[in-house]
Amino acid sequence: MKITNIISGKASAEDMPLDANLRPRSLQDFTGQTKVKENLKIAIAAAQGRGEPLDHVLLYGPPGLGKTTLAYIIAAEMGVNIRITSGPAIERSGDLAAILTNLNSQDILFIDEIHRLNRPVEEILYPAMEDFALDLVIGKGPGAKSLRLNLPAFTLIGATTRFALVSPPLRDRFGAVYRLDFYDQESIETILKRSASILGIETETKGLTEVARRARGTPRVANRLLKRVRDYAQVVANGVANREVSDEALAMLEVDATGLDETDRKVLDTIINKFNGGPVGLDTIAAAISEEADTIMDVYEPYLLQLGFLERTPRGRVATQLAYEHLGLPYNKEKEKPPQSTLW
Ligand SMILES: Nc1ncnc2c1ncn2[C@@H]1O[C@H](COP(=O)(O)OP(=O)(O)O)[C@@H](O)[C@H]1O
Ligand SMILES: [Mg+2]
Repeated sequence: MKITNIISGKASAEDMPLDANLRPRSLQDFTGQTKVKENLKIAIAAAQGRGEPLDHVLLYGPPGLGKTTLAYIIAAEMGVNIRITSGPAIERSGDLAAILTNLNSQDILFIDEIHRLNRPVEEILYPAMEDFALDLVIGKGPGAKSLRLNLPAFTLIGATTRFALVSPPLRDRFGAVYRLDFYDQESIETILKRSASILGIETETKGLTEVARRARGTPRVANRLLKRVRDYAQVVANGVANREVSDEALAMLEVDATGLDETDRKVLDTIINKFNGGPVGLDTIAAAISEEADTIMDVYEPYLLQLGFLERTPRGRVATQLAYEHLGLPYNKEKEKPPQSTLW
């Protein structure tokens, strides 16, 4: 396994058993994202009071922040079944039609990576979401007839890391859209405490603080780092994850004090040293460091933006003074010039 995967919020095979154990199962156990939780609580109580399914929900945000977890929790709190699929898994409109007709009343259909649905499939979703109806076309050519089937009243929960790629007509059909943000240090520590107790890891608060500091505000990364620290503690320190042990274990993973790994540093270094601090296009950066543009956009860039190391401008990415300082490089760019006249 590539060491750089350690800071990716994306799920890897290594996370599977971990995810199942550590995933909170109720809103109460779900740390952080207070606004989202409060809104959901009210929406769930209201829907239950009316005996209706919950409005369709769209969850978006970087990987590893709890979108899938929330979908499961919503189903549990509503007391209904959840059916899981994903955008790329539904290839033909017939596949989606089959899924929809097999739902029971009030069931939740969870579509992960919903921005990757293809057009014909997406078009089946519109009447399904709006009217709980399936429009079928029977036959071909001038003799074709369209037929409308009723579907059970269900709730669609969509998740995406790329809100901008969800088409406007699809977006508009969600009753509620929630953005998940990176977690603050305190929330990550709370999550780590809970995880450590589930996994039976003996920790010291200062050890957890160190892990939390490098977790990029991402629960999945926090849990993954915790697991590495546990292994290290077990082998060299009688199993106790105190501050020193955590520090050593994290240093071995080449995750720095702010949670940046080698690829993050390469991104910044490339913008600064090869492109004079930017602006430079994402694809150019990706090519320069042999990484996929999608991966940079999903995994690396959101956290660099959050830290204020990177800025997005219409002409490309720009490294900020903070980024120079973080890499220990002199910052001597003159203040941004006012835009030149474009009259001639
Ligand atoms: N708010 C939270 N509280 C506690 N653990 C969380 C929380 N959000 C996510 N996690 C943990 O992080 C892991 C990844 O979350 P997941 O829902 O799969 O993220 P996403 O679907 O956004 O990529 C989960 O297995 C869970 O253990
Ligand atoms: Mg997910």
